[in-house]
Amino acid sequence: MTAEDRPLIDTTGAHPARRYNYLLGGKDHFQADRDSADDIEKVYPNVKTAAVENRRFMHYIVHRLATEAGVSQFIDIGVALPVAPNVHEIAQRIIPSARILYVDNDPLVMTHARALLTSTPEGVTAYAESDLCDPEQILDAARTLLDFARPIAVLLLAVLHFIPDDRHPERAVAALMDAMPSGSYLVLTHGTGDFMSTTQNAAFGAMPRNTHGNFAGRPRREIERFFKNLDMVSPGLIPTSDWPSAAPGRRPEECAAYAGIAVKS
Ligand SMILES: C[S@@+](CC[C@H](N)C(=O)[O-])C[C@H]1O[C@@H](n2cnc3c(N)ncnc32)[C@H](O)[C@@H]1O
Repeated sequence: MTAEDRPLIDTTGAHPARRYNYLLGGKDHFQADRDSADDIEKVYPNVKTAAVENRRFMHYIVHRLATEAGVSQFIDIGVALPVAPNVHEIAQRIIPSARILYVDNDPLVMTHARALLTSTPEGVTAYAESDLCDPEQILDAARTLLDFARPIAVLLLAVLHFIPDDRHPERAVAALMDAMPSGSYLVLTHGTGDFMSTTQNAAFGAMPRNTHGNFAGRPRREIERFFKNLDMVSPGLIPTSDWPSAAPGRRPEECAAYAGIAVKS
């Protein structure tokens, strides 16, 4: 089959963004995505809770950045399929003129994003199909949209754990943050096996790579390095379950992720 003959939407295999949409209770997924999610759930029964809590943290932190810090410019890298409220809906409810650049390396995601993530008349939403590991391409798009004299929040939510060490994601994050104006923020969430049992980590690691989209959690010390040269904002890099966004009583193993925010001085 040539590239021209290939269907635009392949429903025969699991697709990471559609599977995440299923985990969140969205409606943009096919049987292969649900089967893949169900396989993950057998090994890690909290996977749907983890996805929902990751999203709740996004809601919380974007709201807090817009209300408390007055941030009106966001670069959301690894946007996935839209599930309301998305970043611009939260930010523009507080600051109608907020400008948001959505980035993903997946063409399917970008097609959905362009169709559904529409701005207020006062603000702007724009889209760049780009890989996080190509920071210059992202910065080129950002420079046409955002005002680099004012703070920008770079959101890397549940995306870095899809990028293996040999692609040097820390270099991409550093290049992005180096280009940001003073007062800008880096927000990230990152999957981890720190709160899973040895047996669970081994079972997860033994799954076929395409079942979980090449997900590779990192221990806390390896996630900390993404904040190099930035000042952590209290309470620091902590389990997603410990942020005020989490449902009361959530335990770290139910979210299997860390979340943190830092500011550039
Ligand atoms: C689990 S979703 C995260 C969605 C959203 N950020 C959230 O936290 O709700 C991960 C997204 O990252 C995208 N992604 C994975 N690797 C990427 C890369 N190297 N560059 C840009 N996007 C990437 C995937 O296509 C997918 O849409």
